[in-house]
Amino acid sequence: MNIQFNNQNVVIIGGTSGIGRATVELFLEAGAKVFFSGRDEVKGKTEETALKKKYKDNVIFIRCDIFNETEVQELAKVIENSGGCDVLVNNAGILLGSKLHETTTEDWNQVINVNQNGIYHTSKYFIPQMIEKQRGSIINTSSVSGLYGDYDCCAYNTSKGAVSNMTKSMALDYAKDNIRINAVCPGSIRTPMYHACADAIGKEKCEKMFTKTYPIGRIGEPIEVAKVILFLASDMASFITGTNIPVDGGLSAHTGQPRFMD
Ligand SMILES: NC(=O)c1ccc[n+]([C@@H]2O[C@H](COP(=O)([O-])OP(=O)(O)OC[C@H]3O[C@@H](n4cnc5c(N)ncnc54)[C@H](O)[C@@H]3O)[C@@H](O)[C@H]2O)c1
Repeated sequence: MNIQFNNQNVVIIGGTSGIGRATVELFLEAGAKVFFSGRDEVKGKTEETALKKKYKDNVIFIRCDIFNETEVQELAKVIENSGGCDVLVNNAGILLGSKLHETTTEDWNQVINVNQNGIYHTSKYFIPQMIEKQRGSIINTSSVSGLYGDYDCCAYNTSKGAVSNMTKSMALDYAKDNIRINAVCPGSIRTPMYHACADAIGKEKCEKMFTKTYPIGRIGEPIEVAKVILFLASDMASFITGTNIPVDGGLSAHTGQPRFMD
């Protein structure tokens, strides 16, 4: 079956690069009207100009810092005036890595504010539009780091753990309004976020470490997460809500025990 989103307004928060950018294009291909946001006005406008060549008025970039509740409210107003939101993809996120006692209060608050409170802000202003329509779908980008711990990543793990559990709580509260809420939990995906880690420890070394760790023998590509987001947003997933789906090449299937026989 071909998944189509004709006549639907899809809002992608954090759509200017990586997983979000791939998701923007996939929904456009499926016929949606896509509103995408990000912090960086120049980057967003550049992506919008490139996408408009093929998708014309179906794609609109609106700068919005989800840290800032007033900006989120203004973003929601624009979409409300265009017919309301049918699908919300809460994808924005940042990664700052350190052990808890070495994390500054400023860094801790920044990670929690973007990854966790940002989803509170956007969902708070878009859910009423879905209640009004008595239908909708929200996909939160959590992480395998929201299901398990990582070394040197306490604030990120904390924020993504909250996203995963928030997803279940939200799913319960809005099921009666025909709004499904799910999360994707990516493993390492080749995006600017991954490249920042790779640059810090050395590209080749990083690639080798990940290739060895992932059962499937490689890290993921943004489009491989985007496809799961599209599926979860669609009627193909009409009986799925409150789930956290790992998109991780088998990483989370592992106990972490060493391999004894090679
Ligand atoms: N790349 C990975 O390995 C990986 C793994 C697991 C989960 N994730 C999650 O996937 C999501 C996308 O990450 P990515 O790897 O594509 O990263 P990315 O850096 O390419 O994209 C992040 C996006 O979030 C937006 N953003 C950041 N702070 C924002 C703010 N305050 N307000 C609005 N937008 C903001 C950026 O503008 C950008 O569009 C994140 O939530 C990330 O935590 C990524």
